[in-house]
Formats: sequence, structure tokens, C-alpha cells
Amino acid sequence: MKTRKIGIFNNKGGVAKTTSVINLAYSLQKNGKKVLVVDCDTQENCFSFFLTSTVPNAILPTEYENISHTTWERYSEIEESETDNYDYILFDMPPAMSDEVKSIIRHCHKIYVPTILGEFEIAGLKKVTDEINRQGVKLGGVFVTMYQKANDEELIGEFRRILQDRLLQTVIPYSKTVRESLKNGMPIEAYFRDRAVPPSPTAWKIVHAYEDLANEVMRGE
Ligand SMILES: Nc1ncnc2c1ncn2[C@@H]1O[C@H](COP(=O)(O)OP(=O)(O)O)[C@@H](O)[C@H]1O
Ligand SMILES: [Mg+2]
Repeated sequence: MKTRKIGIFNNKGGVAKTTSVINLAYSLQKNGKKVLVVDCDTQENCFSFFLTSTVPNAILPTEYENISHTTWERYSEIEESETDNYDYILFDMPPAMSDEVKSIIRHCHKIYVPTILGEFEIAGLKKVTDEINRQGVKLGGVFVTMYQKANDEELIGEFRRILQDRLLQTVIPYSKTVRESLKNGMPIEAYFRDRAVPPSPTAWKIVHAYEDLANEVMRGE
């Protein structure tokens, strides 16, 4: 398979870009895919938790055999021959619309846009999808994160009407276990399994939702 370069982008912070990259990487690897995660937001992020090595190589292993990690800075210096054995390269992007962000967008084959549901999100999403379009890159789709049925059921209908088939089927529910697993530096499923933390029903819903997202991403190729 040809390497697919996928950006997870929204110029808004706190919409679960980083969470989605980590858990999508984990779900793709469960499907036998080899994944490279590129941290483009080193000021904010925390991919350090993935790392098992402090050697300043360009590409670093993680504790998951088929997930490797690097930063955008290092990635920019790597030859393509070093990355073309990956099935997927996932770019965790910063919440900005700078020239550098635009160049990362152009580097990707497809961009997926996580969003929370809110009255004011639609206008922002239009800007984001227009910019992706302007850069000549395909929108993989928008997906809803931190969904809480009690508050969000009405809004999601409105999002579907407006975004139509640009809105993915996958909806990532809210669960406070996400924060716990991130704090421990782990994909949600690995957190439960490796730490033997008893998963709550909402936690399983998230694990399944990220499996669904991986399936939609793989189907989209
Ligand atoms: N499905 C979810 N349920 C509950 N909290 C979540 C969920 N996804 C992300 N979060 C929390 O929301 C915050 C922002 O997530 P993060 O992935 O860092 O967003 P971004 O990278 O877009 O800034 C984090 O504290 C994270 O733990
Ligand atoms: Mg982030």
C-alpha cells in the first residue's frame, strides 16, 4: 500500500485533535497498519509520553511496535525513503492557520477535522474546510468529538443538515476516562488493558468509536 498522509486539523484548540491522533494511530495499528505520528504542535503536546527512547534520532519508537513518532521539525529533514514503509503518517496539527500550518496541509493527502458541537462552530468549520480546499487538498471529513447526548442531540442534526456527507458517521462520545488515559500518556484501550483499569461503559464506547473512525479513514483511501 502507498503511504497515506493524513492531517488532523482544526484551527481551534481543545477539540480533541491530539486525542484523536493517538487513538486513531492505535486503532490503525490494531488493523495491522504501520503508523508514524508526526507531532506538529510541540509546544502544546505531549507526545513525549509515547517515547521510549531519548536518542535524538529522527524517528523514534513508541511502546507500540507499529507506531513510531517524530516531530514536524525532524520529519522535514527526513528523506522520503525513510517514511515510505509506513501505511499511514498522521499529522497532529497546531490550532493555527499560519503559513507553516498551510504547508503541512499541502503536504497531506487528506485532512480530517474534529469538532465539538456548538452554536458557533459551523462558521468556523466553513473557514477551515474552505482553507483546506484553497490549499488544493481533499477533506476526508468532519467528525464530532466529546458528544454528550443530553446537550448535543439537536445540534448534531443541524450539523448533518449543513455538512451533509462531509460529516463522518463516526461520533466520538464524551468520557472523563479520556483525560485519565491521556494524563497517563496512553491510548484509551491500552490504558485499560495495560494498567488493568476497569473500563466504564462510556470508555468502551470511545474505544469502539475510534475503531469506527479508523474504518472510515481506511475506507476513504
Ligand atoms: N472524548 C472525550 N471525552 C472527554 N474529554 C476529552 C475527549 N477527547 C478529548 N478530551 C479532552 O479534551 C481536552 C482537549 O483535547 P486535545 O486532544 O488536547 O485537543 P486539541 O489537540 O484539539 O487541543 C483534553 O483535556 C482531553 O483529555
Ligand atoms: Mg493538540
